[in-house]
Parts: sequence; C-alpha cells; structure tokens
Amino acid sequence: MTTTMFNERLDQLPAYPFPRLAALLDGIEPGQSPLVMSIGEPQHEPPAMITEAMVKYASLWHKYPPGSGTPELRDAIKNWLDRRYNLPTDMIHRDDHVLPVAGTREALYLIATTVIPQDRPGPKPKVLLPNPFYQVYCGAAVLNDAEMVPLAAGPETGFLPDLDQIDTETLDTCSLFFLCSPANPQGAIASPEYLERIIGLSRKHDFVLAMDECYADIYDREPPIGALEICAKQGGNMDNLLVFHSLSKRSSAPGLRSGFVAGDAKIVKRFTALRSYCSATIPMPVMAASTALWNDDVHAEENRDLYRAKIDIAAEIFGNRFGFYRPPGGFFLWLDVGDGEAATKKIWKEAGVKVIPGSYLSITDKDGSNPGTQFIRIALVHDLATTREGLTRIAKALES
Ligand SMILES: Cc1ncc(COP(=O)(O)O)c(C=O)c1O
Repeated sequence: MTTTMFNERLDQLPAYPFPRLAALLDGIEPGQSPLVMSIGEPQHEPPAMITEAMVKYASLWHKYPPGSGTPELRDAIKNWLDRRYNLPTDMIHRDDHVLPVAGTREALYLIATTVIPQDRPGPKPKVLLPNPFYQVYCGAAVLNDAEMVPLAAGPETGFLPDLDQIDTETLDTCSLFFLCSPANPQGAIASPEYLERIIGLSRKHDFVLAMDECYADIYDREPPIGALEICAKQGGNMDNLLVFHSLSKRSSAPGLRSGFVAGDAKIVKRFTALRSYCSATIPMPVMAASTALWNDDVHAEENRDLYRAKIDIAAEIFGNRFGFYRPPGGFFLWLDVGDGEAATKKIWKEAGVKVIPGSYLSITDKDGSNPGTQFIRIALVHDLATTREGLTRIAKALES
C-alpha cells in the first residue's frame, strides 16, 4: 500500500536498541532484583549549581531563549574549550564558532540536514560512520537520503575505523563523516596522528567531519586530545570541522538537554540558520545553569574520579577475562562474551542485570559481518556499591 501520509524512510531505520532489548528480554524473569546497566544515563548526583541557577534565574521562564544562546553561555563555552584544549585565545570567537544546542543528539541529527546535498545529480552522498556507533548517526544518514557507510571499528583496528581501508571513490562522494572519540561503546581515543589524518582527508575530499567528543571529560589516564587541538597546531584553521560536546556526561545532567557545537564558522552559520526553523532552544534558566557548569572544572574532575574508581572495581572483578580492558575514555565496558545476545539473556535471567548486546549498537556491513556481535556493553553509571554489586553478579553469570 502506498500512502502520501508518511515518510517511508523511517521504515528503513533499524529498531532503536532499547525496544530491541526489551523484546529480547520479554518473558524472561530476572533472577535477582533488577539493575539497569544497559543505558548510558549517568546516575551521579548532578552539581548543586544547576538548582541554584534555576532558582536564581526563575524569572526568565517568560522569555523566548535566543537560538544562538546567551553571550554569557557562548563565553563560558569558549573559555572551557580554551582551557580544556589549551587553545590560543584568538582561535575561537564566541560569536562565529560556537553554537549552544539543546543536547547533542538533536545537533548530531540536524548537522546531516544542514550539510548533505539534497538535489545534486549523480550518486547519493555518503555518510561515513564507525561501526558500532551512536544510533543517531544512522538516523541522520537515512532520513536525509544519504548512503550510510559503516566502517568496522573492532579490536583489530584499535576500535576505530581504519582510514586506510576507505577507497577514494567513497571519500570523494562522502558528505559527512561521524567519528566518536572517546568512542561509545568501546572507549577508544583517537591519537593526534589519527585526528590529523582524518582532518586532512575532510579537506582533501571536501566533506564535513562531525567529531562527537561528548565523553571528552571522562577518561582513565590521559585527557583525550580533541580535534580542535589539531586545528590549533595548524594555525587555527577549522575548515570542514565541527566538534560536539555535552553536559549530559561531563556534568551528569542528561535531563538538562544542553550541549554545543563548535568549529568552522561557515558551517556554524548555516547550522544556525537551519535551527531557527526547527530546533528546540535551551530555556534561559537552563542556559544560566549551563554557563555555571562550563565555567567549573571541579565537579567534572570529581565525576571523573568516580568513574575511574568504578573501572578499578571492574578490573578487580574481570581481570583479563572476557576481553576486559580499561576503557581509555567514557564509562562503558565492552566485553567480549562470544555471543552478546545469549549473554545478555543469561545475565538478565541469572543476575537480574540489564546489559545490551553489542550487535544492537552496530550493523551488519556489506561483507555480512557485524563487529558488535560478540560483545556486550555495560554502563558504569551507578554509585560504587551498586556498580560492584552489578559487576559481581554479571561475572558470576558469565562464569557459570
Ligand atoms: C556518543 C554519544 N553522542 C551523543 C550523545 C547524546 O548526548 P546528549 O544528547 O545527551 O547531549 C550520546 C548519549 O548517550 C552519546 O553516547
């Protein structure tokens, strides 16, 4: 049946991972009290400065917030970028290079609408993305009528796409390349050389590089290098690049819906224009809270320490079993359990812990292989005691 009422491209999207997980576990009784470690929703206490700002700026609820954010917020973001990445102060201009967004999820989707050519003759524009990937990249590609090209990011390539494996024709027809560093789910961090290479490719082949750096402030040992640091080394040239950052993970505030994009002024300008037609803006009191959060590094450090302590617990429990490694960035464990779906069911049935099969975060590529199949993802988002309890139960179920 054909209908003029629906966008049929929606039917081409894979089911979202969480309904798939619910269907997988449907009818299986959890063996112990349920504990959710499947979703990357930080449960640490959000900083008190959020509530303080909400109260202080409560009179601003009557205002339509400016689409480009307040100057104070853009200043706070610029200053954070300068501090975090040691950028020269004249590189990022708050009015040209920074755009606050109501969570990076919407921005990662809308960047595709902003940049993918719609009416160009010839082959469909391509969107390249790591496989496994944050699902929004896929929605952005498919719903904007691009060809999605998943690039395997398994252990053999250091959990990042192998840039040497991408042929020239693909790069020439690429419009948008999503890369996530630190990577969700594997925690891999792109090296300076890797970033230099991919930034170089974006300019040579004229595509937009969307660097999802949402986990930039959650790391085990070394602060992950950011793409803007490479630009700084190149005299501040940010052509073709946008970085995406969020307060959801850095400040344990996913409910705040606050993040930003920064980079190439031409793209920021077009993105701003598009967003005035369709985007949720950040409410004024939330902007005030966001300003306070970007201006403060102490809470982010405390947050990071907590994650590190949980990785210590995981190391103690898993040792060198199930392919355990300390994720260099982010807060997920990516365990090699042979069959991720079977392990997920077993863990739920015996341990009452909800994890997610790796294959729900990845896709089967043209060669018929799916780099997520053998893995499960565990989100270390709870307090220390709950995390220890959950991981102990998971290990026991996997051992039996
Ligand atoms: C890799 C990655 N990018 C982006 C997001 C979106 O974050 P938010 O929309 O909360 O800023 C998430 C959230 O889980 C994520 O894991």
